[in-house]
Amino acid sequence: MARDTWFETVAIAQQRAKRRLPKSVYSSLISASEKGITVADNVDAFSELGFAPHVVGATQTRDLSTTLMGQELSLPVIIAPTGVQAVHPDGEVAVARAAAARGTAMGLSSFASKPIEEVIAANPKLFFQVYWLGSRDVIAERVERARQAGAAGLIVTTDWTFSHGRDWGSPKIPEQMNVRTMLRLFPEAIARPGWLWAYAKTLRPPTLRVPNQGRRGEPGPPFFTAYGQWMATPPPTWDDIAWLRELWGGPFMLKGVMRVDDARRAVDVGVSAISVSNHGGNNLDGTPATIRALPTVAAAVGDQVEVVLDGGIRRGGDVVKALALGARAVMIGRAYLWGLAAAGQAGVENVLDILRGGIESALMGLGRASVHDLIPDDIVVPAGFVRALGVPSTGDEETGPD
Ligand SMILES: Cc1cc2nc3c(=O)[nH]c(=O)nc-3n(C[C@H](O)[C@H](O)[C@H](O)COP(=O)(O)O)c2cc1C
Repeated sequence: MARDTWFETVAIAQQRAKRRLPKSVYSSLISASEKGITVADNVDAFSELGFAPHVVGATQTRDLSTTLMGQELSLPVIIAPTGVQAVHPDGEVAVARAAAARGTAMGLSSFASKPIEEVIAANPKLFFQVYWLGSRDVIAERVERARQAGAAGLIVTTDWTFSHGRDWGSPKIPEQMNVRTMLRLFPEAIARPGWLWAYAKTLRPPTLRVPNQGRRGEPGPPFFTAYGQWMATPPPTWDDIAWLRELWGGPFMLKGVMRVDDARRAVDVGVSAISVSNHGGNNLDGTPATIRALPTVAAAVGDQVEVVLDGGIRRGGDVVKALALGARAVMIGRAYLWGLAAAGQAGVENVLDILRGGIESALMGLGRASVHDLIPDDIVVPAGFVRALGVPSTGDEETGPD
C-alpha cells in the first residue's frame, strides 16, 4: 500500500473514514442505538482488562493459525457480516479479496450490496448470514441459493430488535437513488470528493438494493422493502432454528448469544458455533459488553461448540484477551469497515495486518508460542468485570441491606 494511505492503528483508519465518507454514510457505520451504552461498553471493557507478561520465555516465532467452522484461518480473526451500502463501490468483493489475501474467512450479510456468487468468487471461505425474514419456504430458497453458490457455512442472526432511535440522531437513508435523492445528497457528497470520484468512475451510484434477498441474477429488492418484510415476519422460535440447522446440514453459527441458558439451547439444537455478540451495540442498549459475558458462556459450552466473540475489537491485544477468556476466534465489524472506507481492499488488508501484529506482540509478551496456548491467567480481570447472564441463581447471593 502506498505510504500515504497506510495507517498504523484502527483509530487512524476511523479518522480517515470520517474524513472520506459523506456524513450520513459514516454515521451509518457508527450505528449504535438509544444512548449508546452498549456500543461504548463493548470497547471500554477491553481497556479494563490487563496483561500479565513474562519477563523471559518468549518464542521467536508464534503460531496464529486456527480453524473455525471447518475453515483454516491464518489468524483467529474473521470478517463479521455487515449490511452497509455505499461505503465503497467494490463493497464486499473488496473485503472478500482482502480476507482471502490475508488467509481468513468472511461472513456475508444478507443485506450486503454484492451478490453472494461474486463475493465467493473472491473468497470461498464464506459464511452466509441470514436474518429471519419471510416464511420458511422463502428462507429455504435463500439458503439454497447460498448452498448452490458454495457457502462454507451459515450464520443466523436473531438478536435484532428494531430499535431505531439514537440520542445523537440517525442519518436519513434514502429509499432509492433517483435524481431527486442524488440532488438532495449532492452537497454532502461534493464535500467528500474522494468518495464521490470513486463512485463517479464506475458510472453507477450506490444502488441501496440487497441482491441476496432476491433470486440469483436479479438486482434484489430495495433495502427498505426487505427491511419492511423483516419487520413483518414473526421472530423465530427454537424450533425454527432447529429446522434451519437441519435443512442446512453444514457448519452453522447462531450469532447474538449473550446468556448461558441460550448457549445451552443452541448446543441442544445442534449448532456448530455461537457468537457471543450484541450486534455491535446496535440493538438492545444496556446489554453488557460481549467480553464481559464471554467467560461464563465459554466455560459452560466451550467444549461442545466453537465460541466466537464479536463487539469492540480494535486491536490485536483485544483479540488475545478474548481468546484467553475462552473464544476460539473473533469477528470484526467496524474496524474493517473503516479500513474499507479509507482505502478499499488495501485498507481492509491493513486492518488485518494491524490485528496480526498486535496479536504477535501480545503473544510475545505473554511468552506464548501459539494462540491455542492462551489461558485466563494471562489476563488481569478486575473484580466485578464478568457478567454471568442466564446462569441459574444458587440462592447464596447477598440480598443487600434489610
Ligand atoms: C454498520 C453495521 C452493520 C451491521 N450489519 C449486520 C448484518 O447485516 N448482519 C449481522 O449479523 N450483523 C451486522 N452487524 C453486526 C456485526 O456483524 C458485528 O456483530 C459487530 O459489528 C461487531 O462489533 P464491532 O463493530 O465493534 O466490531 C452490523 C454492524 C455494523 C456496525
